[in-house]
Amino acid sequence: MIYWDPKLETGIAVIDEDHKTLFGLLNALLRIIDDGEKADDAALAIAALNDYATGHFKREEALMLLCGYPGQDRHERDHNAFRQGMKSLQHLFSINAGMVNLRGVSDFLLNWLQQHIAVSDRAYVPKMQESSALIAKASENLISCTSFDL
Ligand SMILES: [Fe+2]
Ligand SMILES: [Fe+2]
Repeated sequence: MIYWDPKLETGIAVIDEDHKTLFGLLNALLRIIDDGEKADDAALAIAALNDYATGHFKREEALMLLCGYPGQDRHERDHNAFRQGMKSLQHLFSINAGMVNLRGVSDFLLNWLQQHIAVSDRAYVPKMQESSALIAKASENLISCTSFDL
């Protein structure tokens, strides 16, 4: 079981909600592992995490673009590395679930998420705060898109 660390909050509501949801989805995967890891359940939990992360990255990238954040390319490369990693994991898991050390994978995912939020996501906060009115307006639309991303 992992807990959301308030120190990871960015102060941008739509993003903080996404990050908390990602932690919740990772917790769902950890619970499945603790319960003895049924491969079908684990595959569903990994797919849910991947889908939500993909939606979150899209929302974050849209907001970065909107406020003209200069580190966008580098940030997107980080997101792409995660997307590629998740794709490989899903592929490997579909071929031979027994080969995958899921606890190792979930530790890696948690570490990646914490580091990414604490360093890369934190870096765009000042720029987004400068454009807070724009971000607030765009966030309303992004929240209403959440159901499509799920
Ligand atoms: Fe993020
Ligand atoms: Fe990010």
